[in-house]
This record gives sequence, structure tokens and C-alpha cells, in this order.
Amino acid sequence: MLIFSGSSNRSLAKKVAKRLSLSLSEIEIHTFPDRENRVRVIDKVLDKDVVVVQSTGVSPNRYYMELFFILDSLKRSGARSVTLVIPYLGYQRQDHIFRSGEAVSLEVIINLIKTLKVDRVISFDLHSLRIEEFFKTKRIRLSHLSALSVFAKEIKKMGGNDLVLVSPDMGGIRRIKLLAELLENKTPCISIEKNRDLNTGEVESTKINGEVKKRVIIVDDVISTGKTLISAADLLKKNGAEEIYVMATHGIFAGDAPENLEKSIIKKVIVSDTIEVRKNRRFNKLQVVSVYPLITKTLEK
Ligand code: R5P
Repeated sequence: MLIFSGSSNRSLAKKVAKRLSLSLSEIEIHTFPDRENRVRVIDKVLDKDVVVVQSTGVSPNRYYMELFFILDSLKRSGARSVTLVIPYLGYQRQDHIFRSGEAVSLEVIINLIKTLKVDRVISFDLHSLRIEEFFKTKRIRLSHLSALSVFAKEIKKMGGNDLVLVSPDMGGIRRIKLLAELLENKTPCISIEKNRDLNTGEVESTKINGEVKKRVIIVDDVISTGKTLISAADLLKKNGAEEIYVMATHGIFAGDAPENLEKSIIKKVIVSDTIEVRKNRRFNKLQVVSVYPLITKTLEK
């Protein structure tokens, strides 16, 4: 097996390769002054099973174009099979039409992955069950992994009983129930009703369903602007929460999110490394846990 990495999350790719006693294979990714990319596979891939690790996050367009060229170069160079490890599948929140006239951007991405002859996709905590269906329809083998088991370990380390799991919107209730199962159902679950203005992106948390406790853990799939979490945390605080933690699989941290989360009432933000948080985007309250063992285990299957 050969492992290639795009430039979005080389640190995760290196951890995966190391656990499999491999080094990253050589690839050249050149960016021209006009920001076009040129990709060249250096190691020989003829008749080899190849893994490509490339996530998205901030700059999804840049990383997707890079990925598409990597996939094309591997097939042209004769790779026998290609497994795409795309820990954060960008555009996944655009998985259906919200308002008439919109594109279903995620379907476009999956069509391109299919066209570029990917045999298998490994990804984490996809936003909706509908996304699994897209892959099934396209006959692409999907391994849908989750960082929840890693978060369950962190919660066990925290200890204590006065804890409640919170979904910051109705779409995330399934997620906290799965996490509660991993915690042997000892932790209660509550949810928040939220409204997002699709034109301005502003978020308002309107109502809590369930009983707030002193310590709360808000669990989400993605943190982009951080507005969902900050608004949920403010409402929980007003309703009696004293220590507020956040756990989310994908930390995009767009725009002012790092500063806003740092100055919020949230005590700690734990994300996984499906997206690499660059040094200049890290903040004191941030903790990153790694999902690489889950990827290597899946690749070995
Ligand atoms: C929404 O349905 C998602 O699960 C996240 O809650 C949302 O995408 C987070 O975005 P932001 O951090 O910009 O509020």
C-alpha cells in the first residue's frame, strides 16, 4: 500500500502512515503565481493499491481542485485501486436544496469523485444520513467513521455525574444519543432549538428541551463560525449551566471563530484532527484529539 497526502492535512496523513510502518509517498504539488495547481506523482504506482489523504476545511475549493488532480494523476499512472481518506468532506452541509434555485453542491463533489474512479471513501461524522445514500447510489464503497468514541474517552476522563450532553440543534439529536450509548447511557441528553438566517448567517438559540445541569457538553459535527455554539452556550448559561464544554469532530474555525470562541463563556473546545488547525488559528481553550487510529484500523480491514 502507498499513501499520498495532499497539502490540507499532512500531519494526520503522516500519523496514519507511521502507524502502518510506512512513509508518505512522494508527490509534487506546485502552485503557479495565478494559483493554478500542477500535480505530479513521483513514486511508481503501477498496479499498486494507493491511499490518498486529503481533507478540506477552510479553502475547500483549493483543496478539492488539488485532490481531483491527485486522483487523476494516480489513475493515469496505473494505480490498481484508490482509497480516498477525506476526513472532512467539504460541502456536506449543502446536501439538499434549502431554497429554490440552489445547487446541491455535495452531489456535484460526489459525482466528481466517482468520475475520477475512486474505489473507496473513508470519511468522518457526515452531516446527514442522506450523504451515505449518495455514495450508495453512485456505488462508491463508503466507510463512515465517527470521532464520538474518542470524545467518549475524553468525557470518561472528566468524570462526575452532574453532566448533560447537549445538541445545539434538532439535527444533532441522533449524534448525542449515540454518544450517550458509548457512555453506557449514564449521561442525560437535551437539545436546543435554533434558527439560522440563511441570508446573514446569524444564529439564534431559542429554546432548550430538557433539564440543564451545572456541567454541560455541547456536541456538534462542525464548528465553522462558532456562532451556533456561542449562542447555545449563552442560552445554557442563562438557564443554569456553569461549566460549558464543546466537542465537535470538524474544527473549521472560519474567520473570527478562534477569537470569538476564546472570549466566549465556553471553557474548553475539543475537536478532532479531521481538519488541521494551523498554528496561527489555534487558541488557548482549544484541545485537539486524533482520529488516526480509527483510520489505520479501517485501512487494515
Ligand atoms: C449545522 O447544522 C451544523 O451541525 C453546525 O451546527 C453548523 O454548521 C456550525 O456552523 P457555525 O459554527 O458557523 O455556527
